[in-house]
Amino acid sequence: MKISTKLTLYFTAAVFALVVFILFFLHENIVNSRIEEEMAAIQSRGESHRDVLQDNYSPQTLQHIALMESKTDTVVVVTDQEMNPIIASDRVTPQMQRIKERAAGASYPGSRLLEDDYRNSDYIASVSSFDTDSQTGYIFMFKETGPLRALVKKLNSHFLIAGGLSLILMLVLHFILSKILTRPLVKMKTATETISRGNYNVGLPPAGNDELGQLSNAIGKLSQDLQTLKSERAEFLASISHELRTPLTYVQGYTTVALREGISDRERGEYLKIIGEETGTIVKLVENLFELAKLDENAFTILKEEVELCPFLKGLHSKVNPAFLAKNMRLEFECRENLTITADPIRLEQIFLNLLDNARKYSEEDTTVTLTVTRNGDRVIFTLKDEGIGIDQAEIPNIFNRLYRVEKSRSRELGGSGLGLSIVKELVEAHKGDISVESTPGKGTTVHITMPMKEDTP
Ligand SMILES: Nc1ncnc2c1ncn2[C@@H]1O[C@H](COP(=O)(O)OP(=O)(O)OP(=O)(O)O)[C@@H](O)[C@H]1O
Ligand SMILES: [Mg+2]
Repeated sequence: MKISTKLTLYFTAAVFALVVFILFFLHENIVNSRIEEEMAAIQSRGESHRDVLQDNYSPQTLQHIALMESKTDTVVVVTDQEMNPIIASDRVTPQMQRIKERAAGASYPGSRLLEDDYRNSDYIASVSSFDTDSQTGYIFMFKETGPLRALVKKLNSHFLIAGGLSLILMLVLHFILSKILTRPLVKMKTATETISRGNYNVGLPPAGNDELGQLSNAIGKLSQDLQTLKSERAEFLASISHELRTPLTYVQGYTTVALREGISDRERGEYLKIIGEETGTIVKLVENLFELAKLDENAFTILKEEVELCPFLKGLHSKVNPAFLAKNMRLEFECRENLTITADPIRLEQIFLNLLDNARKYSEEDTTVTLTVTRNGDRVIFTLKDEGIGIDQAEIPNIFNRLYRVEKSRSRELGGSGLGLSIVKELVEAHKGDISVESTPGKGTTVHITMPMKEDTP
């Protein structure tokens, strides 16, 4: 069942139940007060006849009372103590007779109602007793219930019509309202169906600031994200194939040349060396891609432990210094305070190996690279500064993108694939840290990494 139909039915059922309850209550009230009025009226008229008789009991008075009532729709019957009629304003019907008999044997100081069942009896009736020197007896008042029943019947039909009309009105109103309410939902449903078919360009109209509006915004954002993801994936795959194609072409080309007859052993050795280098590039690229895939899936392990930074950096220095010396560069580590941080030492080393590799690759000879460690509250700040070629301000946001290299040809010559910094960024973030880069082309680059010192290991 459609949600708008459901809403219409639920609301109508709820409101209709309320309306029926109110109408019923109103109906009962109107009918009851009308009946009570009628009964009070005959009783009080009977009492006033009684008062007149008490004051002046005479045939004339009796005549007068009968005459008065014969002009109304009530019937008065005056009897003696034994219920024998003295005078009546109209014919006494058998039913009146039966009601009268109920009063037999009782004496009535004052008056009371004899019959009030207007639904089943033909009359409602009251009785008053009188007591004078010459005569004691009763005054019965009867009123036909036919007109009363007709009135109630009319009222019933009015109420039925009111109930029916309000039911129809509610159905229409609720239908329109639920259509208005559910329209954004229906649009969102269509939009998600379109998204799942692979079309991410769904323009959802603004749907206000309520929960539905928020949901609509969320769907819009989701479709945009999916679109970005899709194009990023396509771009990434294209870049990977491109990256692999270049070294593979070299390998293929040099293999062909190396297989040629009539070339010297020296030449062949050179070609094989190039093939070896290119294969190394491919292996490194594939390894890095694999690493990134693991990072993406959160399938990589980070085993945090207490790492004393000064000894850690010392070890790192002796590991990388030879490469710097070979390029005639200086590598200086400053570790004044011996800080201890909670981190995965293998990942930490991976971060710095990548950054130091960049600093070395993108610097000229006879320059210095410095790594300093300082502390700011409960965070450690690593600053790695080189005096290399620097990066254009506009390029800085891109360098963390996968396979992105500022100068493609130069970086390739140096064996770069453009994955190093994206891996570094993921690893820093896995340690709840931040990384930022400042650079001046021709002057040098500075990389800042901040990380919490103590981080509760889950
Ligand atoms: N210290 C630096 N000085 C100048 N340019 C840099 C520096 N670090 C990175 N870059 C630029 O940013 C690009 C991206 O760096 P990244 O480390 O991700 O890739 P790569 O060094 O080219 O390859 P890989 O690290 O995968 O071997 C580099 O190609 C280079 O152009
Ligand atoms: Mg690099």
